[in-house]
Amino acid sequence: MLIRNLARQFYSKSYRHTRKTLKRCKRVSFKTRIEETSRLKQSCIVLALDFPYQKNQDCQTLLEKATNMLDMVSPYVCAVKINHHLILPLGTFGGVKSLVDMAHERGLLTIMDCKVNDIGNTNNVIAEYYFDAGFDALIANPFVGWEEGLKPVFDAATRRQRGVILLAYMSHKGSAEGYGQTVRDPVTGAETKQYLTFARKAGKWNADGVVVGATAPDKIREIRFVLGEEVPIYSPGVGAQGGGAEVALKAGARYLIVGREIVNAEDPALEAESLRQKAELSKLRA
Ligand code: XMP
Repeated sequence: MLIRNLARQFYSKSYRHTRKTLKRCKRVSFKTRIEETSRLKQSCIVLALDFPYQKNQDCQTLLEKATNMLDMVSPYVCAVKINHHLILPLGTFGGVKSLVDMAHERGLLTIMDCKVNDIGNTNNVIAEYYFDAGFDALIANPFVGWEEGLKPVFDAATRRQRGVILLAYMSHKGSAEGYGQTVRDPVTGAETKQYLTFARKAGKWNADGVVVGATAPDKIREIRFVLGEEVPIYSPGVGAQGGGAEVALKAGARYLIVGREIVNAEDPALEAESLRQKAELSKLRA
């Protein structure tokens, strides 16, 4: 208990420091802001704030649960990622926005995992609403392409100093069917893996990151080789999906996205802190 209180005091100072830095960094790219936050908080963990489906969910109870979880875990993570688990039951402006605001107050960045995947006009509406709600970055699917696809999302992000993170290779098994396909360049006839074409697009489009599953460390290694340090790799799939934190980091991941391993733990704060420490140690060893 004493240690927990000391940790809180230490991190509340670092919250203030991080908030000041974030304010100063308003005009800086998302990529730089999360790098700075991660450095200050000595954490590369992104909390996936997800809760299981419940029929006739009481929204007030769910919001309280999410608020408490964020409160407990925020000292040990650099960002929070929100998905449909909360957006669908709580709504964007009525419910989730308060979590986004709370994350910002605690010096965390916020990512909307909406996997934007439609025509440009619709993608633009999705991006504008999530950016209005305060999200610092959103995840998008490069399968829809640039022209009349993701270009409007990148334009909105640039205009509003927000970030776009692209999927490159997802963490589930079926990812091999799409992201793992071999594709042929219609002009040169050269064959390459779909995920490598997406990694190259992330570089060309100036994305703030790519998502590569922690369950596929070989793909992390290949993508890291293509992108170097320029475009950081975010790896979900640690724990519940079978991926290992240290393996993913060793392969070249920069951030670990972790949901159930933390949220379902008996002591989520302890689990987040232990993951944070493990990750920092493995970075030191690398
Ligand atoms: P767990 O509980 O498995 O939660 O730690 C992971 C969270 O991340 C999402 N997820 C992904 N998001 N690309 C993404 O953009 C992926 O490959 C991917 N794999 C998992 C998942 O929906 C959950 O919110």
